[in-house]
Amino acid sequence: MNNIETAKDSDAKVFIDEVSNIYMASTYYIFKQQSLINQKGGDKSALFGKPFINNIKNAYESKFDKKFPKENRRLFTTLLKAMIDVMEDNRTLIYDDELSFKGLIPAIFAFQLSEKLRRKGLGVKIKFTNFPSSIRNKLNLPDLWEVTAMENFKRYNEKAYFDDEATLNGIPAYRYFVPMKLERFCLNCHGIPKQNPLNIGLQKSQWSNIDMTGFEMENWQLGDFGGGLSVTIYKKDFLELEQLCELNYISTFACHFFALE
Ligand code: HEC
Repeated sequence: MNNIETAKDSDAKVFIDEVSNIYMASTYYIFKQQSLINQKGGDKSALFGKPFINNIKNAYESKFDKKFPKENRRLFTTLLKAMIDVMEDNRTLIYDDELSFKGLIPAIFAFQLSEKLRRKGLGVKIKFTNFPSSIRNKLNLPDLWEVTAMENFKRYNEKAYFDDEATLNGIPAYRYFVPMKLERFCLNCHGIPKQNPLNIGLQKSQWSNIDMTGFEMENWQLGDFGGGLSVTIYKKDFLELEQLCELNYISTFACHFFALE
């Protein structure tokens, strides 16, 4: 591999890492806001538009202990705009006063966001996944690359895994996997019946092992492997932009953020 390619690969790594961080921050915020999302009535403006993005930025800065990437990078702007759009699409649901559980959880948000990005022609794919034996939604089933990444994570306890020689659907791609540790609030759904909020105040004999989303609880424990986030960008999309940038004589790194959309 020559130096130019190596430089591009490390650019791609920085880029994909930021996409996943921004995304993680947004899911973190959505997790934390489950009661606001599900409550009947009240002011929910924090979940829409600019306030929503500001909240994601705050979540990012407290989670990763660094400044949110500059918004003059077009990809980030596009990603944030798509996040706003997804929340907007769910506005009626979020303000529905009949439903006490709206089902707008991070895995669903990931799915809708990925669809939105695909429709915008942004060659970035974001997905929540887990081992086939642990999966809830078959649409989230891992492919071979993801299974290998998860096995390696379990074996070597890596923090994140970047692969610049991967493929997706047979097409060369940069791929990235970040594992998720189960936190206390994950166990409301993925934990044991005792942690199921639906069982509060009930006799043990009446406890249900079906969580509020209608799935059987997995009995996972704090610190267990909670699946992870898989981010893919096709090399051709990334490299095309790089070339475009080179013609324009601007720094390749700054460039792909501007050239998208
Ligand atoms: C409110 C209940 C709830 C909470 C809380 C919750 N999950 Fe889930 N999780 C679900 C549901 C429902 C799905 C399936 C979503 C779908 O249909 O795509 C899911 C899917 C997933 C997936 C994708 C793979 C699969 O099984 O389909 C991962 C990974 C995951 N959850 C991890 C977590 C982690 C880690 C946390 C905490 C940080 C968490 N979940 C918190 C309900 C929950």
